[in-house]
Amino acid sequence: MSTSSGPVGPAKVRIRHLHDAKDRGRPFSMLTAYDQFSAQAFEEAGIDVLLVGDSVGTTVLGHSSTTATTHQDMLTFTGAVARSVHRPLVVADLAFGTYETGPLDAVRHGVELIRAGAEMVKLEGGHAVAPQIRALVEAGIPVMGHLGFTPQSVNALSGHRVQGRDAHGADQLAEDAVAVQEAGASALVLELVPASVAARITEVVQIPTIGIGAGPACDGQVLVWQDMAGLSGFHGKFVKTFADLRRDLTRAAEQYRVEVGERSYPGEEHSFE
Ligand code: KIV
Repeated sequence: MSTSSGPVGPAKVRIRHLHDAKDRGRPFSMLTAYDQFSAQAFEEAGIDVLLVGDSVGTTVLGHSSTTATTHQDMLTFTGAVARSVHRPLVVADLAFGTYETGPLDAVRHGVELIRAGAEMVKLEGGHAVAPQIRALVEAGIPVMGHLGFTPQSVNALSGHRVQGRDAHGADQLAEDAVAVQEAGASALVLELVPASVAARITEVVQIPTIGIGAGPACDGQVLVWQDMAGLSGFHGKFVKTFADLRRDLTRAAEQYRVEVGERSYPGEEHSFE
């Protein structure tokens, strides 16, 4: 397997490499991954961090919200990705309902994600989840925070909306970012945040920020892979599609159907004597 290296280096990616990348001003890449072959393709492409996101619920399992993704789902897909790659840092989401109830629940579920192969866990929220972050870190489990639009709170936030647009909201986000850092998180996702606010937070905190719909100043970027590769058909403003997998896959399946129908597949070369 030819593995190209990302900006953080060719060896196994560790948390300290993300911190080095921030210090050197070298943006790193994160993609979601949920299964063996896509994870291996992203490793071969040199992607630095693979996020087994709870978005697996909406991109693979057919749910309309990540609130439907269960802890068991996260264990299954985290295991699949972790067993399939070597170099990228593997981060897994704590599912909705597995940490809001307190530090003990957070640690119990975090331990199970680490046992499944995650090297870091991600949870959504600021001040309110600082005790959970502290408990996870004290238990030896590295944490990635997630602020801005937090999909597990889609109902409370009244839909997918950019957060921190006014001065009060921006100040609150910056305070939450500092709270997440002070609780011990090692990195922070900023989702659907004005570019200027993400730039300010990236400046204020020492931990690397990873943006999704948060402009170019973040220390790293993340996208849901099916959006990045044009499979999902989602064309939000912050998404750039780097391929048209929906078209290519549809064409391949159509060609297969036609060749089966006219008996040109399988041919002699695909048949046994
Ligand atoms: O679950 C997920 O895919 C995420 C990204 C949107 C950052 O949390």
